[in-house]
Amino acid sequence: MALSLPSLLILLTTLLLTTEATTFIHSRAAYYPNSDEHGTDVGACGFGSFGATINGGDVSAASDLYRNGVGCGDCYQVRCTNSHYCSDKGVTVVITDQGSGPNTDFILSRRAFGRMAQTKDAAASLLALGVVDIEYRRVSCSYPNKNITIKIDENSNYPYYLAFVLWYQQGDKDITAVQLCETQNFVCKLLDRSYGAVWTTTSPPSGPLSLRMLLSGEDGDESWIVPVNNIPENWKAGETYDTGVQIDI
Ligand SMILES: *[C@@H]1O[C@H](CO)[C@@H](O)[C@H](O)[C@H]1NC(C)=O
Repeated sequence: MALSLPSLLILLTTLLLTTEATTFIHSRAAYYPNSDEHGTDVGACGFGSFGATINGGDVSAASDLYRNGVGCGDCYQVRCTNSHYCSDKGVTVVITDQGSGPNTDFILSRRAFGRMAQTKDAAASLLALGVVDIEYRRVSCSYPNKNITIKIDENSNYPYYLAFVLWYQQGDKDITAVQLCETQNFVCKLLDRSYGAVWTTTSPPSGPLSLRMLLSGEDGDESWIVPVNNIPENWKAGETYDTGVQIDI
């Protein structure tokens, strides 16, 4: 098959762009000094204990990648680069906190840090180093058999103040805006990201509520996701509600 020069150029550009998207970036990673194996319950994302234990406890604090909370819930493949100790695969972590150490992009849970190693002994050696060279790339989050779930924050105060986080968002895009709508007369209001992954409103509409979530990709594409299920009229602080939708990956 003969390829014309223009189509060859397009092919090459496509190949370059495809490689670009999956290229690892060099950095450093440390781990939570006082943590038990998992992450922290009081992470800056506002995920609570979910932020410590999601993904089996393979979680991390991010510095710049935290992006004022937009980075909360993002997934990264992180692998250390010392070929003596480190596996090729590394570990996939979920961002649930903000933090930085000496030139680090990640502060991993102790468990995740050890899981970059080839063996148990190698994990002990890595942990003894404390801070290691790594490379990382954004990957899709995957939560088999889970829908995106609304967790009403404990600090919510029915019916005056509603705060919530979204759990189990698959894929590699960001939720950059959330609208809350009255299901009956379809009046919507844009919510504030008060901090981390926490969306709030001081005067939630009454009646059953439905969400709209704006999904934004790195390439600028945007789409609204509309849950199948509503938040019930008598929502309660601390409860979780299944949206009935998930993002295909
Ligand atoms: C996800 O939502 C669908 C409805 O859209 C439902 O049939 C399914 O049971 C839900 N999955 C889980 C794991 O809750």
